[in-house]
Amino acid sequence: MYDFAPASAADKPTLYADLLSAADALTAGEWDPVANMANLAALLWQFLPDLNWAGFYRMVDDELVLGPFQGKPACIRIPIGRGVCGTAAATQQTQLVADVHAFPGHIACDADSASEIVVPVLHEGSMIGVIDLDSPVPARFDSHDAHGLEALAARIAARID
Ligand code: SME
Repeated sequence: MYDFAPASAADKPTLYADLLSAADALTAGEWDPVANMANLAALLWQFLPDLNWAGFYRMVDDELVLGPFQGKPACIRIPIGRGVCGTAAATQQTQLVADVHAFPGHIACDADSASEIVVPVLHEGSMIGVIDLDSPVPARFDSHDAHGLEALAARIAARID
């Protein structure tokens, strides 16, 4: 039904520009947050190479609760301040982790994960959740990923709240 395919061998800024357009088109006009997060998780999984997990944790009653994702089953609840996700939520800052084993309190949901990026999603000044990507490749994520995912979070925040 939807044919959003990344251009092969695109550089990262081009890849994220295309991802942003696809995410925008995919969620435009749909108000259901679960449907939108589900499609966005699938889109991230399709567009970004070398991932073993891609999805959302949502802020629910002051903790992070698992949302739509692609990858292996994951831990369901993460207290604010714990692990990479909880740190991103507590600080409202993107967490770029080159080596998850070196991150204090990292929560290992999938033993294959070597590196991780977690981007907070804010809507009207409130933390509503995080985007979490894991990779089996050490140091998979860089500042291009951080900027691309932060732009994505800003674009889709109202559609997943
Ligand atoms: N590694 C995360 C937990 C979530 S899984 O990666 C899907 C963390 O430390 O918060």
